[in-house]
Amino acid sequence: MENSRIDLPIGVTLDRFIKSNENEYIGAVGAFSQLLRDIALAAKVVNRELNKAGLIDIMGNAGIYNSGGDEQKKLDLLANTRFIRALSKGGEVCGIISEENESFIDLENNGKYIVAIDPLDGSSNIDVNVSVGTIFSIYKRKSDFGKPLSEFDFLQKGRDQKAAGYILFGPSSMLVYTTGNGVNGFTYEPSLGEFILSNINITCSQNGSIYSINEGLSKSIKDYKIINYLDFCKESGYTARYIGSLVADFHRNLLKGGVYLYPPTNKFPNGKLRLMFEANALAFVIEQAGGKARNGEMDILDIQPTTIHQTTPLYIGSSDMVDKIEMPSL
Ligand code: AHG
Ligand code: MN
Ligand code: MN
Repeated sequence: MENSRIDLPIGVTLDRFIKSNENEYIGAVGAFSQLLRDIALAAKVVNRELNKAGLIDIMGNAGIYNSGGDEQKKLDLLANTRFIRALSKGGEVCGIISEENESFIDLENNGKYIVAIDPLDGSSNIDVNVSVGTIFSIYKRKSDFGKPLSEFDFLQKGRDQKAAGYILFGPSSMLVYTTGNGVNGFTYEPSLGEFILSNINITCSQNGSIYSINEGLSKSIKDYKIINYLDFCKESGYTARYIGSLVADFHRNLLKGGVYLYPPTNKFPNGKLRLMFEANALAFVIEQAGGKARNGEMDILDIQPTTIHQTTPLYIGSSDMVDKIEMPSL
């Protein structure tokens, strides 16, 4: 990637922003831009479906489970279908992995890109009309064109991401993404059907006073560093905020300064969040915004994945807060 971002004013459309910054993606011609547009289109479709939830029969459980053992919601499946369909059509993407699919999808074309996606994040919140999201990562294909894809194409380190971001379906919907050249946010204007640049070059403050963790899990957290850090947060009079939709919790902390923690627990000894569908994309975004993402020992982006659905502990947000978690004595 070249360091040649063109700064555009608030109010320009996502399309125009992508077009103006096309020179960032050397060698990709228009393919990479088209891929970003496809993601935005799927986001609009999912946004439309989510706005109807409650009026038509798309809430509740679908009665089947994904490979992580979570019962899939009807909207998990619907969002999954919409994103896979949008990504399959253009020919830019040759392979997809999704939290909702056991194994990788080989689209059997000559596309240059691989996409990893959590189509609906925080889906347990959908039935109660609370913010949810979509998380995506884009990588380059590794195998030769014309050959079938293998896990080798997908098991790439987060450091190798070419772009990553998320869509937050909230009071207003937002698309936030990075191509390795800063982070920008676009707010959806439903009457125009456009994402509009609203947050230019987002930076996460070095320190903050919000901590986000499911404290109901406290008794099953064994890592004394986390227990000490939670005590430190309380002694410091920090504010606890936890929505239970990673995208929403992450977005708040990105903008306001704060830290999100999902440590190992008795139930999830390696953490609950998925490296390839959740942690990597947000780690790329937070690093680009000046923050940090760690698993307690190393940067999330440096973890070599060994399986598509593997999980990781996640500590992500303002850099000083993330650093403090790993300090042996607070
Ligand atoms: P998903 O809906 O994609 O399965 O993700 C749920 C994740 C994440 O969004 C959230 O932060 C976390 O699960 C909440 O877990 P707890 O209910 O254990 O706090
Ligand atoms: Mn998720
Ligand atoms: Mn999900």
